[in-house]
Amino acid sequence: MTSSQTELAAGALRLAVDGEVATVTLARPERRNAMTPAVWLGLAEVGASLPPEVRVVVVRGEGPSFCAGIDLRLLADDGAAGEEAVPSALDPGFEQQVAGYQAGYLWLRNPAIVSIAAVQGHAIGAGFQLALACDLRILAEDAKLCMKEPALGLVPDLTGTHPLVSIVGLPRAIELCLTARTITGTEALLLRLAELVVPAAELDAAVADLVAALLATDARAARATKALLQQASRNTLAEQAAAEREAQAELLRSRLSSQSSP
Ligand code: ACO
Repeated sequence: MTSSQTELAAGALRLAVDGEVATVTLARPERRNAMTPAVWLGLAEVGASLPPEVRVVVVRGEGPSFCAGIDLRLLADDGAAGEEAVPSALDPGFEQQVAGYQAGYLWLRNPAIVSIAAVQGHAIGAGFQLALACDLRILAEDAKLCMKEPALGLVPDLTGTHPLVSIVGLPRAIELCLTARTITGTEALLLRLAELVVPAAELDAAVADLVAALLATDARAARATKALLQQASRNTLAEQAAAEREAQAELLRSRLSSQSSP
């Protein structure tokens, strides 16, 4: 069983792999896990190098907050000492650089894994989008979610708008983003932004229970089922029925051929 610990982004990000479970920890609690380009690129590196046996990825933040969003010092004229600056929109490569940051979020939807955000305290802006990038969210009762970007003269550009609209619907997504108001754990549950809300002291145990339940299903069936579910909303009923037949045939055939091989 593979077991490893890796530090990325000069220690602001930690990856622990323990067999089928990887835990990604935002580890700058003294800044409430505020994010820099190095963190986004580090997340992308984690996604690109995840061992194939990993089935569940837990994303968590150290300290009182899950993540306070972008490191606001990067937006100041003099930037943050020792940190790579955020690119200027006047640079011709601006969109390309943002695509590199988005890669840190996009891999969390990969059908090979189930990603879980374990959120205590604040998840603001880029931090809320990180929680939205995960398949499932378990929140502590003290969680506070906020899409702060429009209040700072920005749009949310770290892949958060797609899941937000698909979870809460367009009218609520407009209301949440354009007021930049804070959502509590209780409201998050009502809006389906959380699968579960638990007392803060029970967050780790609730995540561990969910991880164990996810690992109890067959790995190949779980991966094929997530891929099917992900295409359901853009397929017609007939297309989805066909996709189910094809996925079942592929799954059963691969199992039969691995049973019959010596
Ligand atoms: N960027 C840089 N430093 C931060 C950030 C941030 N986003 N958030 C917190 N910190 C720092 C604080 O400046 C403070 O540093 P100091 O000890 O040197 O003074 C330290 O982290 C602790 O922060 P406090 O505000 O004292 O912690 P508290 O728990 O009371 O509040 C909270 C936490 C609510 C997250 C608050 O810090 C906050 O509002 N931060 C800014 C959130 C924000 O607007 N983020 C940008 C979102 S938009 C985007 O992500 C694109």
